Amino acid sequence: MSGYVLAVDPPQLTVENSLPAPVAVTPDTTIREYWLARAHQHTHDRYLGIKTSKFPEDLRVYEHLLWVGRPDVVIELGAQSGGSTLWFRDRLRTLAGYGVLAAEPRVVAVDLDLSVARQNVAARDPDFEATIAFVEGDVRDPAVREEVGRHVPPGATCMVVEDSAHTAETTAAALDLYADLVPVGGFFVVEDGCVDIEWMRENPAWPRGVLPALHVWLAGPVGSAFRVRRDLEVYGLTCHPAGFLQRVR
Ligand SMILES: C[S@@+](CC[C@H](N)C(=O)[O-])C[C@H]1O[C@@H](n2cnc3c(N)ncnc32)[C@H](O)[C@@H]1O
Repeated sequence: MSGYVLAVDPPQLTVENSLPAPVAVTPDTTIREYWLARAHQHTHDRYLGIKTSKFPEDLRVYEHLLWVGRPDVVIELGAQSGGSTLWFRDRLRTLAGYGVLAAEPRVVAVDLDLSVARQNVAARDPDFEATIAFVEGDVRDPAVREEVGRHVPPGATCMVVEDSAHTAETTAAALDLYADLVPVGGFFVVEDGCVDIEWMRENPAWPRGVLPALHVWLAGPVGSAFRVRRDLEVYGLTCHPAGFLQRVR
């Protein structure tokens, strides 16, 4: 007998297990058309059935950063539905399973409103509090930064992911308040600099200000200890142009 036979019925399509609508490509598709279709699609993607707005290419880059930087703690600024929070936690747990992390893995996730994220994460992992701490509040608020610090074990190696409002103000505040958590060799990712690149803008309602704020911060006393690692944009397509920063001193 040739071909493959399904041994079980295919899973029912529900909202939770639906795939994002496919992006069609022809030889005539321009890079801009392709980018816009992908940018739209990524806001409908899911991890473990939970909305997770990341390009597969960027998730692969994160896997490289986690391997190279070996953080045991990820600080996620902007958790939204909690899918990305679980993704980071699960990647850290996988690395811990290989014995390559120096400490127990942990994700500290911040958002203005964590009710949906908390509910989604608890539905997938009722014991999430062993590895995930949620801190509700504004990334611009120093009191929130202090609370985040209380969830970071002494001596932890942190990677920070800024994925909140993508304005100049939130970007500058995240860099000012959270960069000190990143050790030499570690990474701070400023997501969605695509909002400031005209051909990448999908929607006039998108905010602006990420890359200008980053540019100013990099020239300052703390920012000058970081390098923009554009060589880490290895897959060509990224939502985070100029956003992969590594501390070099
Ligand atoms: C782009 S979504 C995060 C997406 C998520 N990280 C993912 O990959 O699926 C941005 C989130 O940032 C939150 N946010 C916006 N402004 C914020 C602020 N000033 N402080 C904290 N969170 C903020 C929003 O509530 C929203 O949930």
